[in-house]
Amino acid sequence: MSQTTWPSSLGPVICIVGARPNFMKMAPILRAFATHQPAIPTMLVHTGQHYDRDMNDRLFVDLRLPHPDINLEVGSGTHAVQTAEVMRRFEPVVDTHNPSCVLVVGDVNSTLACTLVAVKKGVPVVHVEAGLRSYDRAMPEEINRVLTDQIADRLYTTERSALDNLLREGIAEERVSFVGNVMIDSLLSNREFAHAPERTLSEAGFDPAILKGVNSYAVVTLHRPSNVDQLETLRPLLEVLRDVSEKLPLVFALHPRTRANIERFGLGDLVASRRIVLLPPQGYLEMLGLMAGARMVLTDSGGLQEETTALGVPCLTIRENTERPITVEQGSNTMVGRNRAAIIDGVDEILAGGGKRGRIPEYWDGHAAERIAADLAQWLIERQHSS
Ligand code: UD1
Repeated sequence: MSQTTWPSSLGPVICIVGARPNFMKMAPILRAFATHQPAIPTMLVHTGQHYDRDMNDRLFVDLRLPHPDINLEVGSGTHAVQTAEVMRRFEPVVDTHNPSCVLVVGDVNSTLACTLVAVKKGVPVVHVEAGLRSYDRAMPEEINRVLTDQIADRLYTTERSALDNLLREGIAEERVSFVGNVMIDSLLSNREFAHAPERTLSEAGFDPAILKGVNSYAVVTLHRPSNVDQLETLRPLLEVLRDVSEKLPLVFALHPRTRANIERFGLGDLVASRRIVLLPPQGYLEMLGLMAGARMVLTDSGGLQEETTALGVPCLTIRENTERPITVEQGSNTMVGRNRAAIIDGVDEILAGGGKRGRIPEYWDGHAAERIAADLAQWLIERQHSS
């Protein structure tokens, strides 16, 4: 691009974060926009979907995210309440700040809510991590993904299969650009700052010696409503985990939803073991260090499936489907569903043979955010010239 300064007639890119998995995606984007020539002006809006120290503040510090320009402070609620509240509070922000576009990441309720507001005001929307599909409409995130992609103007994808999904939904190929994975930009730039697992355990009041067993340790996270919201599902999963903990110790970072349900259903005894370390939600650098040092990760998180692939650490995904098939096809991920035998077999296989290490997918190279900055700057300027 020939310009050396950003056109004054183009307003800021309003960048939206709401929930924990958004933060590691937005941090490299903001940095790439600031260092792009010319710098792309941004405004960071936090919807407040996640708000407490563990789910929010620690990650902002770890990822060196700037303080949001605006916090809508919507907090928790049902899907309808949360989505509606974000929309109601975001509308005046768009009216006041005349953005050149609104940039959303991922698939949380804040992603869809802000997309709807902007599109209906004629403000273009840019979706980062577009086109991922689990084909499971019982997942709230799947609804958010399908609807956001359908109405967003510019779609950036993390893996090539996403384009096929988008084309199947009638989305024009010109709207889509394959840029790679911004979450892996964050991982690569923070790898050297990751906290040693021993330090994380000591600081949480646990004896780090537990990590030194012959089989090392496994990291566990569970938070999907389909896994943790019903007693009939959560109990058998915790029973399997207790059995797995006899093979190798578990470091289980408990999401607030999961912790609350374990208490509500009276399942605390199942995880009360010397071989299960229960931690609160971890900071980014703690989690990175824990994963990097682990023998394996057991999870239902989307982000962890990608991060373990980037780290080459075997991952067993406790879900029936994944919207991130490349982590299975090329990476270190294996889908084990909620089936007890499949989970135990998966663990045994890793303990016996080391498990899948995989390879690094195309464009998961630490430069995805720069590709977005270059493409978006050109797109916004061309769009302005043609209007
Ligand atoms: C949301 C996202 C999910 C993402 C997850 C990561 C949607 C539909 N879901 O799910 O895609 O994987 O974030 O965590 O957007 N809570 C706290 N502190 C907080 C925030 C929430 O304790 O800072 C508790 C509240 O009790 C709340 C519950 O966690 O009711 C769930 O929070 P919510 O934002 O509704 O959904 P998540 O399960 O976190």
